[in-house]
Amino acid sequence: MLEASHQHQTIADRQGIGNVTDLPYDRCVRSPRLSPRAYQRITLLALLALVFIIITGAAVRLTGSGLGCSDWPTCESSRIIAPAEYHAMIEFINRTITGLVSVVVIIAVLGSLVRTPRRRDLTWLSLGLVAGVIGQILLGGLTVLFELHPPFVIAHFVLSMLLVWNAVVLHHRAGHDGRPGLPLVPQRIRQLGRALVVLASVAILTGTLVTGTGPHGGDEEVSRLPFDITLVVRIHSGVVWLFLIVAVATLVLLRRNGTSEIVDRRSKLLVAAIVAQGVIGYTQYFTGVPPLLVLLHVAGSVTVWIAALAFTLDLTAHSVDRPDAPVPAS
Ligand code: HEM
Repeated sequence: MLEASHQHQTIADRQGIGNVTDLPYDRCVRSPRLSPRAYQRITLLALLALVFIIITGAAVRLTGSGLGCSDWPTCESSRIIAPAEYHAMIEFINRTITGLVSVVVIIAVLGSLVRTPRRRDLTWLSLGLVAGVIGQILLGGLTVLFELHPPFVIAHFVLSMLLVWNAVVLHHRAGHDGRPGLPLVPQRIRQLGRALVVLASVAILTGTLVTGTGPHGGDEEVSRLPFDITLVVRIHSGVVWLFLIVAVATLVLLRRNGTSEIVDRRSKLLVAAIVAQGVIGYTQYFTGVPPLLVLLHVAGSVTVWIAALAFTLDLTAHSVDRPDAPVPAS
């Protein structure tokens, strides 16, 4: 995706100069360039990698493999690679995926430096991903060292969601020119958009409290959060009902006011994601939280979170960066 600039060659050919080596040195050096669209694809890859690791991380917990590697950063005391054993292998594969995620976020930083035009906000946002991944590696280590104590498991999940937020904003901004946009909806609906992001966060946070209190909070042995499970489930589902009501009300208001196709699509997607996640939530609750459904519920939380963020971000229209704007000849 990196493109070398051949601008000098084209000018030389057009002007009949012929030999490019006659041109000044700085115009002959092939400087790597990345179009806004190519950079946006890299940011999408970073977002997908983060979503992927959240799901594989949850799979580690739900298969009881969290302490498959009992040490950190090595798997077992001086052993870096896991022994050929089920739980150790699952935990080890998840740690390897962390390595891949680290590479992708570093590429996002490097890409921001060669993106044309270069933008400081994108570099900062991509550095935010690197900081978050370093934080996750340290927090993951602490989670293992504290033998999957629920507050660590919860902090690990919450930081993942913050990273997803960072990646969604980076991906969104990478696609436009960085200037303030034009609101597509009245102020009242933009406030509802912000409220939806807050409600999504509270739904996720209360969900992690349910997990920390229930059977999938960590290892079988570790003590759970000291809450009444029925009460936390009621609070969690109550927040979700409120979230759904506000999302539907927003959709109705948007339809009444008339809005752009993208906003309409985003709000329908958000309502559909909340309903699907709610159905999974109730089904898993009434069937004794089978691990596979819980895994689906984790994937659903990420989907709902991204849908809420994307809806709010798309309430403002931005101009697109001109892809591959020609580099001035001098
Ligand atoms: C927008 C809708 C919802 C969101 C975003 C959401 C989010 C979450 C999250 C993030 C967790 C923690 C996952 C983990 O750490 O493994 C969770 C757990 C849970 N949620 Fe929800 N949830 C939603 C709807 C519901 C509903 C309607 C119910 C119905 C009772 C429900 C029941 C549960 C249960 C029982 C758990 C614990 C699963 C376990 O044992 O790990 N959820 N939820």
